[in-house]
Amino acid sequence: MTKPTIVPAGGLIHSKDAGELAIREDLKGKISRVLISPTILQEKIHDLAEGIIRDAKKNGAMEIQVVVVLKGAAPFANMLGQEIFRCGGPPVRFNYIKASSYSAGLVSSGEVKIEGHLPFVRHKDILIVEDIVDTGLTLSRLKKYLIEERRASSVKICALLDKSARRLPALRKGLRIDYVGFKIPDMFVAGCGIDCAENFREIPYVVAVNEDYFRKGRKEK
Ligand code: PRP
Repeated sequence: MTKPTIVPAGGLIHSKDAGELAIREDLKGKISRVLISPTILQEKIHDLAEGIIRDAKKNGAMEIQVVVVLKGAAPFANMLGQEIFRCGGPPVRFNYIKASSYSAGLVSSGEVKIEGHLPFVRHKDILIVEDIVDTGLTLSRLKKYLIEERRASSVKICALLDKSARRLPALRKGLRIDYVGFKIPDMFVAGCGIDCAENFREIPYVVAVNEDYFRKGRKEK
């Protein structure tokens, strides 16, 4: 299993990336710093892809059925799928679902809404791809849904970021994340699909968001 990398609050910057990561003028004040630089991100996605391929081969899988949790996980899932291809893995089948644990507002509503059409899940081994795990509510509900209501044979989870300090006590032991990229501190982050009030999803690496700027009236991420 790929070991998660622990990210310090100051961030992880690869020497190759230094110099290219100055925060753009228009983002200053909104973003505090780069948390995970592009090369570190790419290396981790490579490791995750290798781990997923290794396990798929061990299980004799002919394809990898992925369920991508919209919206945030779409960029990571694309990068992961492309890396699985580059590493010579089996075909990746992409399925998309919208699962949201937040209402329009600020903090978790405690409920998870699941929307979407998943015709290919029944009797399949599924890999959920998620951008970030916070309380764990979304994944715990989604896993249950896929197994109990959609009759998946098995469900594994791959998450790019794990903010484990925020996990609900009841899920600390009960929710297994099979492939984790990075364990991050309890702070606002964005980029690589993850938003802060719908901003920054397009940034191709992970950044720390200026919490003071967004905290007022924004959802916590
Ligand atoms: C984020 C993230 C996870 C969930 C994690 O999604 O993508 O799905 O929150 O939080 P949890 O562990 O506390 O359940 P969000 O609901 O913000 O939707 P988005 O992906 O469209 O931004």
